[in-house]
Amino acid sequence: MFSVDRKDFGPGFTFGVATAAYQIEGGQDDGRGASIWDSFSSTPGNVHNGDTGAVACNHYELWPQDLDLIRDGGFDGYRFSFSWPRLIPEGTGAINPAGVDFYDRLIDGMLARGIKPYATLYHWDLPSALQDKGGWMNRDIAGWFADYAALVAQKFGDRLQATATINEPWCVAFLSHYLGIHAPGYRDVRAAARAMHHVLFAHGTAIDALRANGAKNLGIVLNLEKAEAASDNPEDLAAMNMGDAVFNRWYLGGILKGQYPEDVTTWLGDNLPRDYQRDMEVVSRPLDWLGINYYTRGIYRASTDGSRPFEQIKGDLEKTDMGWEIYPKGLSDLLVRVSNEYTKIPLYVTENGMAEVEGDDDPRRVHYYDDHLKAVLSARAQGADVRGYFAWSLLDNYEWAEGYNKRFGIVHVDYETQQRTPKASYRAFQGMLHNTR
Ligand code: FCB
Repeated sequence: MFSVDRKDFGPGFTFGVATAAYQIEGGQDDGRGASIWDSFSSTPGNVHNGDTGAVACNHYELWPQDLDLIRDGGFDGYRFSFSWPRLIPEGTGAINPAGVDFYDRLIDGMLARGIKPYATLYHWDLPSALQDKGGWMNRDIAGWFADYAALVAQKFGDRLQATATINEPWCVAFLSHYLGIHAPGYRDVRAAARAMHHVLFAHGTAIDALRANGAKNLGIVLNLEKAEAASDNPEDLAAMNMGDAVFNRWYLGGILKGQYPEDVTTWLGDNLPRDYQRDMEVVSRPLDWLGINYYTRGIYRASTDGSRPFEQIKGDLEKTDMGWEIYPKGLSDLLVRVSNEYTKIPLYVTENGMAEVEGDDDPRRVHYYDDHLKAVLSARAQGADVRGYFAWSLLDNYEWAEGYNKRFGIVHVDYETQQRTPKASYRAFQGMLHNTR
């Protein structure tokens, strides 16, 4: 049971659950093209246990029961992502009719159950054919992505409650091109600098394409991490400031102010695309809402050998099964900061949740959600215009580099049988939301 109540959030507040295509769909033989996660995951050493998303939760076939779970949980909305290579197998050009049919069924299935579709265009499964041309390192991706956005708007736009362009551009750019942890697995500052700009430029061209094709209620989803310093000494504070700039301010500043933080442009220098400044007007197109994914805080200290702009250390708060500290205050602090320093457009918590060891009884997760929902209320009390909250995730699913080893679901999935079993956290949401939709 949660201690918070639905009515604490007021009548217009949206509660939902979130997933992403590659993490749950499977269904790879309907004409879907290859994505960078197919090849990355099948390359030894990249993903725990060599797990791939080939079958995942087989949501491709089992979506009716998954939508039933969302409806029966009392949720108002479902945040899902389109798979670009399912709709356009080569990334540009020919459309896969079976892919269009799949999302038609899924969206109509939501509407039939009274669930509002919250779509994301890109949750990391870039068509491999585009990676062959440099993917996010190639400026042309702004055009490829805009064409894909236009297609989604034309086929589905009138049925979508809201559309986000990109999920977590920091992950698309930095985690995947600098830290090498996600596909395509580069560890290269020039690759990262290019991706950091192109992902936001493509976001802007996609916003234009969506709008031109009649789609409404447009935004982007950022992962923000509360940045804190390991100590009060000036070196650690400077490291924290730089960590905050790379993780948070690059994206907030670019999108909402048309300006990247100077400390980062100086650090990246000539690795950035030439004349990137001319794109900033497109990068900062007006949005209707901003999504924030929140999981934990980051603690920064000066790099011990001076070779990097910062280092992160582990804190000593209680941790989830990912090893991430549980820190609800970070969520309210970030929501208030965004509202005070960046924008007054409506904010949505588009992901929040925790990995927990396998089991249907997940009292720690119930507690986690309750505390983070309280943090949302606290942010609202401090003036942040937060309009919705989406739990990550509906189902245990393919947790990227961690494979099936980490479980974020409020519904347990037995990967042998594909049996879904609601956990205590699902029932806690259901208890709060039941009969109030
Ligand atoms: C976020 C991703 C999501 C999931 C959660 C745990 O960074 O958007 O797909 O992996 O983390």
